[in-house]
Amino acid sequence: MKILVIGSGGREHALVWKIAQSPLVEHIYAAPGNPGMARYAECLDITANDIARLVAFAREKGVDLTVVGPEDPLAYGIVDRFTEAGLAAFGPSGVAAQLEGSKVFAKRFMERHNIPTAAYAEFDDAEAAIAYVRKQGAPIVIKADGLAAGKGVTVAHDVDTAVNAIREAMIECAFGAAGAKVVVEECLIGEEASILAFCDGKTVVPMIASQDHKPLLDGDAGPNTGGMGAYSPAPLVTPDMMAEIQRRVLEPCVAGMAAEGMPYKGVLYAGLMITASGPRVVEFNCRFGDPETQVVLPQLQSDLVPIMQACCEGTLRETPVAWNDDACVTVVMASGGYPKAYEKGKLITGIDDAEREPGIKVFHAGTKQMPEGVVTNGGRVLNVTASGPDIAATIEKAYRAVHKIHFDGAQFRTDIGAKALARLTTD
Ligand code: AMP
Ligand code: GLY
Repeated sequence: MKILVIGSGGREHALVWKIAQSPLVEHIYAAPGNPGMARYAECLDITANDIARLVAFAREKGVDLTVVGPEDPLAYGIVDRFTEAGLAAFGPSGVAAQLEGSKVFAKRFMERHNIPTAAYAEFDDAEAAIAYVRKQGAPIVIKADGLAAGKGVTVAHDVDTAVNAIREAMIECAFGAAGAKVVVEECLIGEEASILAFCDGKTVVPMIASQDHKPLLDGDAGPNTGGMGAYSPAPLVTPDMMAEIQRRVLEPCVAGMAAEGMPYKGVLYAGLMITASGPRVVEFNCRFGDPETQVVLPQLQSDLVPIMQACCEGTLRETPVAWNDDACVTVVMASGGYPKAYEKGKLITGIDDAEREPGIKVFHAGTKQMPEGVVTNGGRVLNVTASGPDIAATIEKAYRAVHKIHFDGAQFRTDIGAKALARLTTD
């Protein structure tokens, strides 16, 4: 088979790495890919949002399956365009991708289908939103309706912060049209977990639970980022909790989308707050999580390619999805200054040395190949990923690898996985 993977980050590198292990696959293309993927894939000079060129390329080369990494092309309807051209593409249709693309859509949908989530109100008028926030008080959460590259959410611990977030989105238009409406939500208390699930429109098969680390600094301090690391399995999600998530969140979501004429195919990502009164949906995403994918796919024992085909064809129920018993940890090495302004082009050394230890894989997130070597080319630069039978030893192994890699200004959290250790010690 010929496979095309769309995207350029650590998530897509992990997808390409896993797909390359399939005996079904003869050639992988990545659009646009990155230097890490170039080991297994032919990287193309086509960006992830250039849908017309991607369709034309897949048609010309006879690509058998296209896998879409990021949310933007999904929201723009890339899967619909591929389907119209008679090409198989893994991911939800444009209307189904609204589960991520519009917070208002997702909240109304959850309300209709009784899916547990934070209480909310929606506004298209800034003054009305501000008056509501003043009445409700803090803590309170403000969310821009549309896609805002992960920056559209403010968890406000005082009313002034909430009012500023509303002004920023609705009056200053910091997120463009994405902030024309806002959702104001109850602030949930608990610990977060990410559940990714394969879906074929009717059947939903969850992957192993994972946990992201969004804040920049140790102890969950500092500004929010795209994610500074992850681990899996997440002991917070016990087998009983997973069963409850399946019954109260995943199954009603997929059944509800089908009943409303928007069958959901691809990966459904439920970002959950595990509260004292059970799981609550914080967000749905319409794709693999980043960096969660980097710690989930190494645990997938089955071939990923037939699973993705089954999701496209509606045969997931008959398709084996088996997992190994490993633990997996990824530490994000980021550019100095991230998530604010940062410099690019710093030479990276030590990746090969780090990967010499068994069970270490360095996924590239923001890198570029230059004549002198691989250099930094983004905020999140590398995902240093370790697998092993035991979470404590795997965390140590990941950090041993991190310490072998160097670039000017590199920053990383030193406590990825600490919450898993704490929970395992107290349980
Ligand atoms: P989102 O982009 O919707 O995932 O939100 C980003 C982050 O904001 C989440 O990962 C949570 O940490 C936090 N968050 C979002 N909604 C809530 C909520 N209702 N209560 C508490 N925290 C929230
Ligand atoms: N890890 C958060 C996300 O993929 O949205």
